[in-house]
Amino acid sequence: MSLTPAFLDELRARTSLTALVGRTVKLTRAGRESKGCCPFHNEKTPSFYVNDDKGFYHCFGCSAHGDAIRWLTDHQGLPFMDAVKELAAAAGMEMPAPDARAAQRAEKAKSLHDVMQAAADWFTQQLGGIDGAEARALLERRGINEATRRTFGFGYAPDARGKLRTALRDFGDAMLVEAGLLIQVEGKEPYDRFRGRLMIPIRDPRGRVIAFGGRIIGEGEPKYLNSPDTPLFDKGRTLYNLDRAAPAARKTERLFVVEGYMDAIALAQGGIGETVAPLGTALTEQQLERLWRVVDVPMLCFDGDGAGQKASIRAAHRALPMLAPGRSLAFATLPEGQDPDDLIRAKGATAFEALVREAEPLVDRLWKHELAAEPLDTPEQRAGLKKRLTDLAETIADPSVKAEYKAEFRNRFDERFARQRQPFQQRQPFYPMGQRKPGQKWAPPPPPVTDDAKKVHAAGNIDRVLAKAVLAGLIRHPAEIARHMEVLGSLKMADGALGRLFEAVVDVALEDRRDGALDSGRLVTILARSGFEAVAHDLLRADTMPYSFTRAGGDEQQARADLDEAIAVLVARPEVDAALAEATSAMQSHFTAEAFERQVALVNEQRALDERLANLVQANEDARALGPEDD
Ligand code: UTP
Ligand code: MN
Repeated sequence: MSLTPAFLDELRARTSLTALVGRTVKLTRAGRESKGCCPFHNEKTPSFYVNDDKGFYHCFGCSAHGDAIRWLTDHQGLPFMDAVKELAAAAGMEMPAPDARAAQRAEKAKSLHDVMQAAADWFTQQLGGIDGAEARALLERRGINEATRRTFGFGYAPDARGKLRTALRDFGDAMLVEAGLLIQVEGKEPYDRFRGRLMIPIRDPRGRVIAFGGRIIGEGEPKYLNSPDTPLFDKGRTLYNLDRAAPAARKTERLFVVEGYMDAIALAQGGIGETVAPLGTALTEQQLERLWRVVDVPMLCFDGDGAGQKASIRAAHRALPMLAPGRSLAFATLPEGQDPDDLIRAKGATAFEALVREAEPLVDRLWKHELAAEPLDTPEQRAGLKKRLTDLAETIADPSVKAEYKAEFRNRFDERFARQRQPFQQRQPFYPMGQRKPGQKWAPPPPPVTDDAKKVHAAGNIDRVLAKAVLAGLIRHPAEIARHMEVLGSLKMADGALGRLFEAVVDVALEDRRDGALDSGRLVTILARSGFEAVAHDLLRADTMPYSFTRAGGDEQQARADLDEAIAVLVARPEVDAALAEATSAMQSHFTAEAFERQVALVNEQRALDERLANLVQANEDARALGPEDD
């Protein structure tokens, strides 16, 4: 029977609430309303009002409140349907006819439930029989004990096309087909869907069997075969083991989501019963809703491989629009190549609990994913990151959660990228573009250092542009060569003219170490003898280079400090590049949390080096803008 809102509205409109309430409560007229002593609490002065126009009663003493139906259910204690019937009779309205289709559906569902339960019983029986030996051996191999076997209702579907059909023939083919137990192909005899498989009943939240998962006993495809969607079973709305997990989860206030139902079963056997699994598909919105009806922060425990991590980020994105205050997701990552079943069999429940303690909140998962998604070397790339984060936060529907995410992402972004700019800020006043002091000369933005640096990222080679600048710096400040002899010697220089010049400079310095009076002029003279005159002169002019140590007339101490810094970056860069290339290829072949962390760390190291370089350039620009003109 369906009571439409229109029917109920009509019913209320035709009912005089004053007359109805007046049958048991003495009411007196008070303006547009009637009042009396409240029947829901003890009182001497009336504070109970009935408003016929609006169709509700309200007590200002105890806040009792409701309409005509509520009056009958709350005051008279009638069941809802009886209350409606009584009011309809009084109002002369006919009750809607019982919905024939709904009744039929209920009847059919009842029988489909019967079919499923009968099938589950039959599969269980087969598991205990002669045919079930292989399946029993599989359970044993997997360490599933007798109690777990019974709790989860394991069964066996014999490797035959008609055994189940025969056993359940009383239900009729049509119903067995509708239940998804038989496959019907046009013009042919229906045959058993599950053959030669270990059977796992899938239950609804009330514990009734609504579908089956069948695992192949040996090797073969597909490894798992699930029931098709039926009137009882909607894969996208079902979570395996929810009926058992929910009560457990409400006690412990945690709920785990694993990828496979064997994982859920293994965890339950290990004492962690608050575990559910989707059925071979990505988590749907309906499944997320179901999880949140149990706990505020369900934890996804997906495999550490690429597929598992993709599934987890997908779930993260899907959850965003649905977040609410207090309502989120957490993420635990399984070690490479292990699912919870493997882990718990190898190391026990404590190993799983350890992973759970390391779980990260949704915001971390999203942040790390975006940080690693693209390089962050240039301002444009960093702006890209900012935009991606903002776009993510924008998908959150709840305004207060959305605002929190935006603020959090902004803070993380600022903290990460501002910290790397700091060494420079402490050294020199920094005037970002557009914020220069009045009257101060405009200086061009730093050259795209990072673009050149980027070229060498992949190769793990030396940054040639920077090397050239350092060489120019060394020729201008030859006294510095001795201090850096060791690192300079260790540099694997690019070949070609630049490399040879570098070697020559170091050689000259080495030869002249004794008297330590090598000045720029003398160095150039010596280099000229070796045929380097033109290149060296070129480098000495070097006004195209953006560093304090490549120009004349600057602060000598500053130039030396900057040269130190540039050499440090020059030396560190190839190491970081090589390590990053390695981490990236490692992660491409096998995603692990550690590899991921390492990659993120290295990307940041790389960025930090770029920042240091950019700071040198900016410091030089500022010094030039503030200081006296140079040559
Ligand atoms: P997995 O292949 O990760 O299962 O699939 P598993 O639990 O580790 O299996 P074992 O340990 O080898 O027995 C995870 C889930 O994906 C669905 C099933 O729901 C399974 O529980 N699946 C997997 C399928 O539906 N069909 C398949 O062929 C494979
Ligand atoms: Mn497994």
